[in-house]
Formats: sequence, C-alpha cells, structure tokens
Amino acid sequence: MPEDRFGRSIHYLRISLTDRCNLRCVYCMPEQMHFRPRAELMQDEELIALTQMFARLGFRKFRLTGGEPTARENVVEIVRAIAATPGVRSLSMTTNGMLLEKLAEPLARAGLERVNVSLDTLDAQRFHRITRWGALERVWAGVHAAERAGLVPIKLNAVVVRGYNEDDLPGLARLTLENDWQVRFIEMMPLGSIRDFQQTQVVPTREMIARLEAAFGPLEPVSARPETPVPILDGEARLYRLPGATGTLGFIASVTQPFCAQCSRARLTADGRLRLCLLRERDLDVLSLLRSGLARPEIEARVGEAIWHKPWGHGLAHNVVAANRVMSEIGG
Ligand code: 5AD
Ligand code: SF4
Repeated sequence: MPEDRFGRSIHYLRISLTDRCNLRCVYCMPEQMHFRPRAELMQDEELIALTQMFARLGFRKFRLTGGEPTARENVVEIVRAIAATPGVRSLSMTTNGMLLEKLAEPLARAGLERVNVSLDTLDAQRFHRITRWGALERVWAGVHAAERAGLVPIKLNAVVVRGYNEDDLPGLARLTLENDWQVRFIEMMPLGSIRDFQQTQVVPTREMIARLEAAFGPLEPVSARPETPVPILDGEARLYRLPGATGTLGFIASVTQPFCAQCSRARLTADGRLRLCLLRERDLDVLSLLRSGLARPEIEARVGEAIWHKPWGHGLAHNVVAANRVMSEIGG
C-alpha cells in the first residue's frame, strides 16, 4: 500500500467523474460556473485505465464524486468496470441525489455499494435557495430509491451555511431517530473564487453541537470504549448519537478540528490530475502523462513520488487557501 513520508497509508482514492453539475449549491460554486471542455476530461477508457493503475499501486477504497457523478454519460458502465477491477475492495459515491430515483437500482446492480447524498435542509424553499436549482422531493425520492436498492447505510451530508440552513440542524438530526442513517454536518471549507463567502458564512462544529444540544439535550459520543467518551472518527466524521436514536450523527470539522493526521486519501480530478490535499493547490497531471505515451512503470513511479510528498495538512489556520479551483473542479 502506498505510504507518504509521514507514515500515513494512502489507499483511498476519490475519483471525480465530471466537473459538471445539475445544481449550483452556494457553498460549492458561483452561479455562473464555467466547465471544462469534454476533451480535457478523462475519457471512459482513460478513467478505467487510471483506476486500474491506482488499484495496482495498492489503493483499495474508491469513491466517485463530481461535480455530480450521476450526470456523467455511461456512469453505470463506469461503475461496473471499476467494481470489477482487481484490488477494489470498496466502491461508493457522493451524489446530490437528483437522478438517483432512476439510477439507484442499476448502479447497485453494477456493483456500487453505498451512497452519500447531499441534503442540507428539509424545507423545500430553503433547499431551492441553497442549491439554487434543486428540487427537494426529487432528492428525497432518490434517498428512498437508494435505500430500496440496498445502497446502505445511507449517509446524508449537510453543509451548514450561516443565513441559509443553520436552523435546520434539529430537523435533519431527527431523521436518525427512526432511520439507520448517518446524518453528517459539514463545516464549509474555503476554496477558489467563492472563498470570501465561505469564510464569512462558516458555522463551526461547536456551534452546531450547541444548537443540537439546546434542542435535544446532551449528545452521546459513539466511542470505541464506553468508559472513555471520545467520539470515534469514521473517515472524517466524529460520531455522536441522539439519546435513543437508531442512526448516528457525524460532524466533519475540517476547518476547526482538522483530521489531517489520519488522512488516507488522494483525489483524481475529472481532468485527470492527482491532488494530494483538497486544500492545497499542488497536483500531478496524470492524464497528460498517460496521453504523452509515457511507459506505465514511469507513470507509476511519478505517482508514487507525488504520494510520498503528500502535504502534511492544510493551511487554513494560517489563512492559506487553495484558490485555483472550487470544490466541484476537484471532487468533494
Ligand atoms: N465545504 C464543505 N463541503 C462542501 N461540499 C461542497 N462544497 C463544500 C465546501 N465548500 C460537499 C457537498 C457534498 C460534497 C460533494 O462536497 O456537500 O456533500
Ligand atoms: Fe453540485 Fe454537489 Fe457542488 Fe452542489 S455541492 S453544486 S450538488 S457538485
């Protein structure tokens, strides 16, 4: 398994299938978003060849992202090919759910195991305001289709934005009382051209927890050992539970409590760049290496070297922001 110079095992690859999206969430992109010409993106064969290369290098866990991954042509065929790749142990997707009602079943049959669905509020008008173009009932139908198709446990992602949805935390958390879901509350990260908005409207995790505790009383940390009430880290989320709930709550405090020491991930952007940290600009243009005809072992050596030099962590505490791309151009 690939390692970096700090001894972290890097085996989790998030692959962006497209930079396009059928929504325009305020925390993710500007309303007038420009997308890359399709010829600059990985073509199906290139995407599959690169996935196979990462699996050969020791990557085991794969997540498909966007933009909106279900907006990519041939998404079902791509999932089938990745699921059948030797070495791939886990394959999931982060989606806005708008197209899931139709796609959940075929994606599950093609080998997708789980989905995370973005759902920032249960109020239809607020949902439209935060996603600019979204329709809550379509996403909701998508969540249920995903559950029926066995893409479980369902995880719901809510990015909390001041002035948009900070009052929705109790309603979203309440979903875990009856459903075996993980509802995750995410601190908004500053990226690219909309970083000023993201920095002024961010809601810190401790405030999210205070809002929930005002409504429900103390949250129970989901801990590895009952005598030490320290919440376990499930990927990037610290887990809690409402008293008596079936499901769990996750808090992703990327800004105020970074989890960089435990980071095992790398990202492949839709235009084939390997980005070792979401919040650092540096990347390796793997697609250009592939297109240049460079021999496979050479490409693998360059990738291994880039992983070795994965940055230790982000620089948000020192006001260093990655300004070259917004979230949808990297892959969330
Ligand atoms: N900060 C944190 N999360 C974000 N996402 C999009 N933009 C941001 C941001 N600025 C999340 C979405 C989705 C995933 C693709 O990335 O909520 O769940
Ligand atoms: Fe699209 Fe997801 Fe970005 Fe929203 S957060 S605009 S759904 S890529």
